Amino acid sequence: NSFVTNPLKKMKLFLVSLFLLLFLSLCLSEKCNQNDKKALLEIKKGLGNPYDLITWDPNTDCCTDWAEVTLSCDEKTNRVTSINLFKIEDAGYLSPALTKLTFLRISQTNISGPVPEFLSKLKKVTYINLSYNNLVGTIPPSLSQLVNLEFLRLDRNKLTGQIPDSLHKLAPKLTYLYLGHNQLTGIVPTSFAGWSFDTIDLSRNMLEGDISFLFGKDKTTFEMLLDHNKFEFDFSKLTFGERLERLDLNHNKIYGSLPTITSKNPWQLLNVSYNRLCGKIPQGENMQRFEIYEYFHFHNKCLCDSPLPPCKLMIPMEEATM
Ligand SMILES: *[C@@H]1O[C@H](CO)[C@@H](O)[C@H](O)[C@H]1NC(C)=O
Ligand SMILES: *[C@@H]1O[C@H](CO)[C@@H](O)[C@H](O)[C@H]1NC(C)=O
Ligand SMILES: *[C@@H]1O[C@H](CO)[C@@H](O)[C@H](O)[C@H]1NC(C)=O
Repeated sequence: NSFVTNPLKKMKLFLVSLFLLLFLSLCLSEKCNQNDKKALLEIKKGLGNPYDLITWDPNTDCCTDWAEVTLSCDEKTNRVTSINLFKIEDAGYLSPALTKLTFLRISQTNISGPVPEFLSKLKKVTYINLSYNNLVGTIPPSLSQLVNLEFLRLDRNKLTGQIPDSLHKLAPKLTYLYLGHNQLTGIVPTSFAGWSFDTIDLSRNMLEGDISFLFGKDKTTFEMLLDHNKFEFDFSKLTFGERLERLDLNHNKIYGSLPTITSKNPWQLLNVSYNRLCGKIPQGENMQRFEIYEYFHFHNKCLCDSPLPPCKLMIPMEEATM
């Protein structure tokens, strides 16, 4: 039989059958966990079956055929480990999801309703990004059960009420906390005192009180966005960790004078405008270094000296040399 004895043809036949075999096995064995698929389809339905999720087809394999950008599966277990949805048109509300998730991003959609309680069941989740949505209601205290969480963004929603005290249980693992651009009220829990964030964003809320406990030499924070609130504390007593490079406190009620600002800090942003600060602006190389510095001190009670007008003689020397 010349067909099978010809080595080249033999090889071809082998390749063709191998390909067929692979094709068949792909058709027959679906990798996607059926519970995960069910939950994903539920999320899709919850989001109002948006066109952007057209690839989430119940008849195909979620791990291999659904858009790679929107989700991914663990290579060994084939469980869905990450959901990444953003800018989804016409999104509805969030519905109960998977429990093996490590990454959840649903942002820039129009999902509304409260931050779902079921999130607290995602024990493996390390990353949650629900920013830029229309979420309402309070932050569920049960989020403190997310023992593996490192990153939490709930900013740019319509959240109200207080920041739950229980969140301090997420320290020290959680180092990125974004709650800015909501309608949060009350004080920042003092239990956050021992927590060292990389980034904390509480900007543009209606928070009040003394938050000087968020500062300190021992902190490893590099970004603190605290502007547009009603924070009220003595700024002159603060010390800063050496990594701090962005501090925005504009539009608050902070008082006192400017503390010594160490040249060790890699300052990129320091904005204390629109507060109640008073006294002499510390002079020196570091203070002149900021290009961003030009506007940082405007609209305060009585700050003076370069680059603002000189301090008046009325200011006592002790205060003027601080
Ligand atoms: C969300 O809704 C607003 C107003 O209803 C609309 O302008 C915006 O385009 C919507 N965004 C998305 C991503 O659907
Ligand atoms: C979270 O989502 C927002 C909005 O889509 C995006 O700009 C931001 O980069 C995301 N954050 C991270 C760290 O992925
Ligand atoms: C500081 O805050 C004020 C008030 O919001 C703003 O106008 C100014 O641009 C800010 N400066 C910098 C350098 O961000």
